[in-house]
Amino acid sequence: MDRRHRELAQNCRSGRPSGDIAAVSGVAQGILWDEIPSVKERPWHPLGVSTSWKDEAKVDEYVERVERLDARRAGEAELVEVLPARTKRVLDLGCGDGRLLALTLGARPEVVEAIGVDSSPPMLARARARFASDTRVSIFEHDLSDRLPALGVFDVVVSGFAIHHLAHDRKRSLLTEVTKMLRPGGAFANLEVVECATPELHEEFNRRIGRPGGDPEDVLARVGPQLEWMRDAGLRQVDCQWRWRGFALLVGQAPTTLPS
Ligand SMILES: C[S@@+](CC[C@H](N)C(=O)[O-])C[C@H]1O[C@@H](n2cnc3c(N)ncnc32)[C@H](O)[C@@H]1O
Repeated sequence: MDRRHRELAQNCRSGRPSGDIAAVSGVAQGILWDEIPSVKERPWHPLGVSTSWKDEAKVDEYVERVERLDARRAGEAELVEVLPARTKRVLDLGCGDGRLLALTLGARPEVVEAIGVDSSPPMLARARARFASDTRVSIFEHDLSDRLPALGVFDVVVSGFAIHHLAHDRKRSLLTEVTKMLRPGGAFANLEVVECATPELHEEFNRRIGRPGGDPEDVLARVGPQLEWMRDAGLRQVDCQWRWRGFALLVGQAPTTLPS
């Protein structure tokens, strides 16, 4: 079984819905990866909303639902705690409607430039509307599957529930790019959806956050490997600073000295 198949099987174990389980069965039966329907060809969801972040209905459902999650607010409060004391430039990966950027700007009013990137037109529209009168904020369309553009050096890079949509290899290369974009001692704070220890625990988490069956677009990993990937990317002081079921705050710091 190659890496991509192992990832798919891992997602299946994490409680993703039956469409993926069928796909894994396909792998087991020797069906080629390319024959497995892509997510875009499986536009179903247990809640009856689209699986694509480019879809207005999915974005509406998400934005409205997550606002009401106490656990999300608890994670955000912890993220604010790890923002560096003097933050001038901030980057948000998969910024969505700009919620984390707004939180960061509220907590660090000294910020002079904030950049958000996302690939979803409806999310980008919401973020641009939110910051229409804030000249410090720029929102760019960018697919995180592709290498990050040259955006300069940041004091902090934040991300909220976005990186888990990328393949594991891309998560790892993205972490290396992020490490290089941080100033020495700068922080990376990733408030993320992670894989729970068992499918049953993960489904309980899904139920509690109001999305039974999970999201077919998720490519989840457990906390332990993700912390290793962060260390491998060159981050220091790496830890899971907060956890509630399938939500985790994964934090690291760029080295303060250049590698010899
Ligand atoms: C669960 S939402 C989180 C949005 C926001 N960060 C928040 O904290 O509420 C996931 C976001 O990741 C974005 N996303 C998913 N895959 C992406 C990709 N490959 N490139 C860029 N953005 C992506 C989606 O468009 C969406 O805005």
